[in-house]
Amino acid sequence: MLKKLAIALLTVCTLGITNTQGQKNKTFHPKEVWNDTEGNPINAHGGGILYHKGTYYWYGEYKVGRTILPADATWERYRTDVTGVSCYSSKDLLNWKFEGVALKAITEDSESDIHPTQVLERPKVIYNKKTGKFVMWMHIDSPDYSKAEAGVAIADAPTGPFTYLTGFRPNNCMSRDQTLFVDDDGTAYQFSSSEENQTMHINRLTEDYTQTDGTYVRRFIGMAREAPAVFKHGKKYYMLSSGCTGWDPNSAQIAVADSIMGEWTVLGDPCTGPDAEKTFYGQSTHVIPIQGKKNAYIACFDMWKKKDLQDSRYIWLPMIPNKQTDGFTIPWHEEWNLNIFKKK
Ligand code: GAL
Repeated sequence: MLKKLAIALLTVCTLGITNTQGQKNKTFHPKEVWNDTEGNPINAHGGGILYHKGTYYWYGEYKVGRTILPADATWERYRTDVTGVSCYSSKDLLNWKFEGVALKAITEDSESDIHPTQVLERPKVIYNKKTGKFVMWMHIDSPDYSKAEAGVAIADAPTGPFTYLTGFRPNNCMSRDQTLFVDDDGTAYQFSSSEENQTMHINRLTEDYTQTDGTYVRRFIGMAREAPAVFKHGKKYYMLSSGCTGWDPNSAQIAVADSIMGEWTVLGDPCTGPDAEKTFYGQSTHVIPIQGKKNAYIACFDMWKKKDLQDSRYIWLPMIPNKQTDGFTIPWHEEWNLNIFKKK
């Protein structure tokens, strides 16, 4: 009898362990804590996703430790020390394996752009087919945000380690919130909030993607757009962005263009549902085109917790093409998965 009980207990325990460890995420739960495959909260804020050879890589600000408001702050520039850029990998966009800190803060040189005392935000990685390098661009800044530069790092593998190259003002202009986009012909562009965040600059990159090539345009002039996320749908280019209110939420906006450096037309706020006018309390960071599905995109937002930045959450939602407006809608879903999109 005792032996039977022991076997039964052992079976329950073993099954229990297997279930917890083997449990896979089957749905997206915007705003909830989202754990990696080891059971730790995913820590990749202001991030971007690269699809490379069958795997998605998610890079983001690795925010660790206490959030503080510096004593000399005249606005709500809450911060954590820079620790680096994390990398996670996934095949299904739901279950993410922590690959480590792909770009580490440089602690030994207090003059470094990526010293813990500085600001490192919105890292994005693209792959250069010609050089075989993975190229990361990020917003780097002084703690009071007066530097307004872009930093560049490169690696031989998607998971890093990335080597920090340099920081500069693209075309000698300010650069804060930023993203990268690679067009079908392999030409890459950096979109960055410039001119005190009032105007978006679209900077064309050199062939190796590590510099700007001198060609740029000013768009969304005086419109104060931040947090750009750029993608291509059919033959058109789209930019999802936020307004400019620091860590606090505001309305999202989507815009379309026939040519990337041409004229952009604002289509309005794509979000629908409760709190849509506040982007569901999120701020855009990236749009993922889903591989193997047609017209299927995920809009990725950060839900910042300005007083505890490390616990900031993610809001990933489906983007549905809207034939009438030439644009997209981003409807709120408490829980959803990729079955929402039709198969290709
Ligand atoms: C936001 C920006 C974030 C961060 C924050 C600092 O406007 O999108 O990336 O810079 O300001 O307050």
